[in-house]
Amino acid sequence: MNISTINFDSFQKLKDDDCQERIIKAKKTLGKDLLILGHHYQNEAVYRHADFAGDSLKLAQHVQNVEAKYIVFLGVHFMAEVSDILSRDNQITILPDLSAGCSMADMANLAKVERTYREISKVLDFDEKITPVTYINSAADLKAFCGEHQGIVCTSTNAPKILNWAFKQKEKALFFPDQNLGRWTGYKMGIPLDKMPVWDPDLPLGGLTEKQIIESKILLWKGHCAVHQMFRVESIKDFKKNYPNGNVISHPEAPFEVCKNSDLVGSTEFILRTIEKADPGSEWLVGTELNLVNRLAKEMKAEGKLVKFMSHVICECSTMARIDPQHLAWTLESLIKENPVNIIKVPQKEADLARLTLDKMLEVS
Ligand code: 13P
Ligand code: SF4
Repeated sequence: MNISTINFDSFQKLKDDDCQERIIKAKKTLGKDLLILGHHYQNEAVYRHADFAGDSLKLAQHVQNVEAKYIVFLGVHFMAEVSDILSRDNQITILPDLSAGCSMADMANLAKVERTYREISKVLDFDEKITPVTYINSAADLKAFCGEHQGIVCTSTNAPKILNWAFKQKEKALFFPDQNLGRWTGYKMGIPLDKMPVWDPDLPLGGLTEKQIIESKILLWKGHCAVHQMFRVESIKDFKKNYPNGNVISHPEAPFEVCKNSDLVGSTEFILRTIEKADPGSEWLVGTELNLVNRLAKEMKAEGKLVKFMSHVICECSTMARIDPQHLAWTLESLIKENPVNIIKVPQKEADLARLTLDKMLEVS
């Protein structure tokens, strides 16, 4: 460890208010050398410091135009990896807490995806028949896998366009790691549910028969978001009973039946913009992460709109929540000492392959 590295221990004991002051001061000192990017699920205590906020697509698009030397990412690991891949070589991406991962992204890994490739290849020629499509919520080595196999990345915003592109290349798609986004997108494109079987990477042949694989249009990886999995159709029914003119809007990571019973389905950015543009007096039930919904409910109350959270239990992205004011203050003050901590650096070969698929995604969207 470098002698001037600042230890996190002293920050852990700081009160939130003290951190807030130190963050503001550090931002002033770093000036144009720093840009803080934030995902909509971050809680208010750090979100307020973001210079630019967005959904995964908007953040990926924005990072390419950033001039700052340091990009501090208020989000989860895969988002910081995308930032590192899409930013210039002389820029540094920092994730304030390295344990801020995405539990859904962790449901697929390279060993399992490569085994899947070998298993499917027993039944058909994978590279001839299948476009691998990875949700951006995945590790960089899975994006690199897609780069090696003429595949592509998608986000919740562009999934329909990306799947359309995928089907122009090959007959079928392998969609990982979120089965819900894959199923909902395929369903909206008119693909019958039985043509989208779930591939369980822990079972021989994914737990499917050869016939199912041959007849499939999309093989859906057995993965999901633990946060969005909590939403229930019953909550929608209750809301509609109490607010007959109310609207229901959900993220496509929510279970299929929830999406089917929602009036609108889309990314976090879509949810925010739709409700912001809605008429005063309108009522909304929102099926996505709690921090976003709480912030929106507060902002929209001032405009006479009612925004309610879809669940009675707390559905917070606990990994996003690891980015707290203590970690943010620590990483910023380390930058002032010119001793960055928590740098996210994707190995070059992997980054080059992953960049292929990300560039393709940005082009198609
Ligand atoms: P968005 O791209 O819609 O922001 O989704 C990212 C995410 O992780 C949702 O759980
Ligand atoms: Fe991952 Fe779910 Fe958190 Fe989104 S809400 S970052 S999918 S764990």
